[in-house]
Amino acid sequence: MKNYAQLSKEAARILADQINNKKHSSVLCLPTGSTPLGMYNEIKNMKIDFSRVTIFILDEYVGLDIKDKESYHYYLYHNLLKRINICKEKIYVINGKARNLKKECDAYERKIQKMGLDLIFLGIGLNGHIGFNEPGTSFSSRTRVVKLSDSTLKRNSKNFRKKKIPLRAVTVGIKTIMQAKRIVLLASGKDKADIISKFVNGEISRKIPASILRKHKHILVILDEDAASYL
Ligand code: F6R
Repeated sequence: MKNYAQLSKEAARILADQINNKKHSSVLCLPTGSTPLGMYNEIKNMKIDFSRVTIFILDEYVGLDIKDKESYHYYLYHNLLKRINICKEKIYVINGKARNLKKECDAYERKIQKMGLDLIFLGIGLNGHIGFNEPGTSFSSRTRVVKLSDSTLKRNSKNFRKKKIPLRAVTVGIKTIMQAKRIVLLASGKDKADIISKFVNGEISRKIPASILRKHKHILVILDEDAASYL
């Protein structure tokens, strides 16, 4: 894609097609971060009927209440959910403040397994993470608590205004991501060019968690020219 605006439009078009062309309800898993913001903005103006759509959030920080402004739930609510006609009971978020996080993760994973993901959107970290599956993550991982890497903490702490960034998060696992029927990975900007080149041309290895996505039968990678500039 020529630029971020085009990338966002294309991503929104794919999401709309998924919902509009399916006779049955769609189950989506959505990320946060800066990359999908443009797509969420497009969607808000597209008049898509979300009334039969189910949305799972991809990840969340440990220790933040879902109403906390720094939480990923708040991000998704603020940037998308409050502007679409989705039913409240079809929104699944991970409670990063749950007393028993293992139980919370297992229940979330079971819910995903039961419903099955039709389409998952992903961003990619500078270190190749997808969700919060950091380098070294097993390709058979499921929804669980993880420690964030130093590079992720450094980059994401810029977005934390009031609090110290949590050191742990909860994320949907790599195996769970790989079981989605379709995957769309978005990357924009010069700072993603290096990891995109490693993701596309490097070996498939735990060092670059996103590399396993190349084995998925229905993956689409949407890049703007900057992110694709080392290919
Ligand atoms: C966010 C997530 C992360 C981001 C990645 C890229 O829910 O799971 O993997 O997608 O860190 O973040 P941005 O888009 O801010 O560059």
